[in-house]
Amino acid sequence: MKQKIVVTREVFDETLEYLGRHFEVVANQEDRRHSRDELIALLQGAAGAQTSGTDRIDGELLDRCPGLRAVCNTAVGYNNIDLDACTARGVMATNTPGVLDDSVADYTMGLVIATCRRIGEGERYLRAGQWTGTYLKQTLGQDVHGATLGLFGFGRIGQAIAKRARGFDMNILYHSRSRAAAEAERPFDARYVSKEALLREADIVLLILPYTPETHHYGCVEEIAYRKGYIGAKELCMMKRSAVLINMARGGIVDDAALIEALKKKTIWAAGLDVFENEPRLNPGFLALENAVLSPHIASASEPTRKAMAMTAAKNLVAALTGGAPPNLLNPACRERARA
Ligand code: GLV
Repeated sequence: MKQKIVVTREVFDETLEYLGRHFEVVANQEDRRHSRDELIALLQGAAGAQTSGTDRIDGELLDRCPGLRAVCNTAVGYNNIDLDACTARGVMATNTPGVLDDSVADYTMGLVIATCRRIGEGERYLRAGQWTGTYLKQTLGQDVHGATLGLFGFGRIGQAIAKRARGFDMNILYHSRSRAAAEAERPFDARYVSKEALLREADIVLLILPYTPETHHYGCVEEIAYRKGYIGAKELCMMKRSAVLINMARGGIVDDAALIEALKKKTIWAAGLDVFENEPRLNPGFLALENAVLSPHIASASEPTRKAMAMTAAKNLVAALTGGAPPNLLNPACRERARA
């Protein structure tokens, strides 16, 4: 008898067809956002789940779904999954690294340019019928070429962004938990600097780092003390008045209320955001700000990339439940406690 698996949100037909060859599939092609209880009810008797980044998978859910042996996220980020809870219960967790790097990097450059050169604002002005002629000081922006780009995070996606930024003659600074190998820095002439130096020197501060308890309201000088809040405010104050903040990582890394204040008071020049605290219910303060370019968490959303992500998650699920090693296993230690 085929094992039952649940695909929690809509996927491509080819993904379902592939999963159907291996499992009895409970799909959600209407793309309903299940409540937590509905999701738990759906997962009864299921050996695995192909999840989306909006499904919270924690110890309580796992205890109420004792048959679950694998949770395969259709995203590279996995802050929606409590990895320790999975490991403690012998549940395999996987993500989709690698397949989205270039699409996210492409989109990031788009957001950088849109923010620095005020593309959205210009379009709104034109559509509102306000364009009556061209003049010298019209919609003046910041240059992207030759700017100093400060990357918080220098993993695969960070490096794909650095590669594109070099095409724009940008200088690359980066900060991450640990310094990258010289071979990773060399192609981009990337310079490792402290968090404070990055904030002070960069024209474009770009977040592309994992969301963890340590990066919640990403701390700068005394990380732990900053966890109380308003870390964002202090960091934003360190940035140049002409600087731009781009967040491609996760909403909770930035204190959005502090960012709105900085944008209102113009202590920084602009922000380009693909992610928000509490998304999709973002802080309404952003909506009135001309100097915020807002994007609904779609950096990886090209058709080929989303198909590759869905298929990567599906392949992880098949490998996890048919005895193979899932290629993107996040918690190898779970093996010692594997559920029967
Ligand atoms: C998107 O944010 C992802 O984590 O894949």
